[in-house]
Amino acid sequence: MSKPTTPKVSVSQIPQVPPSPLPTVLITGVAGFIGSNLADRLIQKGYRVTGIDNLSYGVREQIPEGVEFHQLDIRDKSIFPLFQHSDYVFHLAAKNCISDCQLDPVETADINVRGTVNVFEAARRSGVKKVIYAESSAVYEGSLVFPTPESEVKPESFYALSKFASMHFAEGYRRYFGLNSTALRYFCVYGPRQDYRRTIPPVFSAFIIKLLKGEVPIIYGTGEKRRDFIHVDDIDDFHEMCITDRRTTGRVFNLGSGTNYSVNEIYSIIAPLLGSDLKPVHKPDLPGEALANLADISLARSLGWVPRISLEEGLRTLIEFIRNELAKGNIS
Ligand SMILES: NC(=O)c1ccc[n+]([C@@H]2O[C@H](COP(=O)([O-])OP(=O)(O)OC[C@H]3O[C@@H](n4cnc5c(N)ncnc54)[C@H](O)[C@@H]3O)[C@@H](O)[C@H]2O)c1
Repeated sequence: MSKPTTPKVSVSQIPQVPPSPLPTVLITGVAGFIGSNLADRLIQKGYRVTGIDNLSYGVREQIPEGVEFHQLDIRDKSIFPLFQHSDYVFHLAAKNCISDCQLDPVETADINVRGTVNVFEAARRSGVKKVIYAESSAVYEGSLVFPTPESEVKPESFYALSKFASMHFAEGYRRYFGLNSTALRYFCVYGPRQDYRRTIPPVFSAFIIKLLKGEVPIIYGTGEKRRDFIHVDDIDDFHEMCITDRRTTGRVFNLGSGTNYSVNEIYSIIAPLLGSDLKPVHKPDLPGEALANLADISLARSLGWVPRISLEEGLRTLIEFIRNELAKGNIS
């Protein structure tokens, strides 16, 4: 006896189930480096994104198309209604230049502590599912344990202290209001839109801009400080996991590459990529910066996250980005 056959159904006859809508996301600091890259990633994936920024450091032009943007200060209560329809909040807005923070501890606390608490308050009143907020590897500045695990917290600078305070308030909002959160300790993030407009830009951009302009790059101090650099695309992979993977909730994660380079080593990688043999000049060290950082990323790795962008690949795309910005006259 022959087996009964299942009638063939063509793909076009299968009833179409409407896709379930993706969660809505609010990003503070959306006009900045990490915020604008995250907005780009989420918009490309189909998320609805609302963004807040007071444009004190960030630039409107780098907010991706499709973001519902509000020019507001995170310290202001007028941000509250924007949280009403947000499932997830990425809180990235901050005063974040270590030397500026050393000069103005009051404003540092005002933006990074009071502003952060205002964001937590807005989130808990609106029933947000989770706040994912930026801490920093600066909280390890007093530690001599390398690679540094999440437990080795020893903040020293006002910037680091302000980030450390956020963690305690996050714990208070969990304890008293049940607000879920995830803390991210970024190491040295680099990639397109890195804040290259600052007086002293981050080291990669500083070298690339000078060399593309044929000017002599500056190294502050001996150049032997070591940093763990991580590409912003790798960070965005983990940001997505914070939305999709519940195991991230209620935890703190180091996000670095697990490898570090001295500033001199970085220079000796970048100069040949640009075909330059210019020798950098050395100037006095910048205050408040740790001698080294190196992330222990075993916790993030244990959830399946792996940094995938090699330093050379990341540098090549950053060079292309900066070359285009120079050609457009966006960098003077
Ligand atoms: N880039 C890194 O390597 C790094 C490393 C460790 C931690 N972080 C943290 O990650 C977050 C994002 O960093 P980034 O590199 O994108 O910085 P960024 O300066 O490029 O972006 C921060 C944004 O916050 C905005 N902002 C500042 N104060 C505000 C306020 N009171 N109200 C509203 N908006 C305000 C700025 O205009 C800016 O657009 C920050 O919290 C920073 O401390 C970054």
